[in-house]
Amino acid sequence: MTLLEEPCSPRPDDPIIELRGVHAAHGDIEALHGVDLVVPAGAVVALLGPNGAGKTTTMKVISGLMPVTSGSLRLSGRDVTGITATETARLGVCSIPEGRGIFANLTVRENLWVAAGERVSLDAMEQVAYARFPRLGERRDQLAGSLSGGEQQMLALSRALGTNPAVLLLDELSMGLAPMVVTEMYEVVKGLAAEGVSILLAEQFARIVLPLADLAVLMVSGRAVRAGSPTEIEEELSTAYLGG
Ligand SMILES: Nc1ncnc2c1ncn2[C@@H]1O[C@H](COP(=O)(O)OP(=O)(O)O)[C@@H](O)[C@H]1O
Ligand SMILES: [Mg+2]
Repeated sequence: MTLLEEPCSPRPDDPIIELRGVHAAHGDIEALHGVDLVVPAGAVVALLGPNGAGKTTTMKVISGLMPVTSGSLRLSGRDVTGITATETARLGVCSIPEGRGIFANLTVRENLWVAAGERVSLDAMEQVAYARFPRLGERRDQLAGSLSGGEQQMLALSRALGTNPAVLLLDELSMGLAPMVVTEMYEVVKGLAAEGVSILLAEQFARIVLPLADLAVLMVSGRAVRAGSPTEIEEELSTAYLGG
């Protein structure tokens, strides 16, 4: 089930993700100081900013892994502030975290099985993954921890390919990967976007994601300080922090 099929049907122009004045903290230390962020339905939004800006924390709030201490989180127009990670997953929010979120000591197949959960069958999950990434098929019984960085990211992305998400949250997809592999991964992301999946991409290095994005948001010190077209934000960046 996708967000758009939920019983309390949203209006078509409701953003798929909307944060208003969101505060969130790691223990006693506040990391988000009132974040406003909108991801329109069907859009690819780049979430940019230097290390420590709050990109990962924002992703965790959206996927229900971290609580909102004040402010609101809406998904497809519904106020879901306080939602759990299990519930966001059920609503079609698929999060591929920094470090990829795969289990090193499980095989490729077992990782796909875990990802399939209740939403899809293991067979379907495997078929889609191996069709897109034949190398994963060849390595289906290999432990994920022994795969190359690129193959691990293919496995992580296969969760999104197989589970038919409404929203995909991708955190630092490029981290630790060779440029050619990054290009290959972002081709897959483009394909998902073309199928209508809404996507929020956090990247420290703007140049990689700006060409894919419909909108860009710049985070600095726990706040979203600018939002605009990729061209507008690129101009900001060239005079600011991120050379990348
Ligand atoms: N697990 C954690 N415990 C304490 N502080 C954290 C933790 N994770 C992140 N932070 C702090 O929260 C702020 C935002 O971090 P983060 O969201 O990871 O930024 P980004 O993803 O943009 O690099 C930083 O000041 C960081 O040091
Ligand atoms: Mg991060």
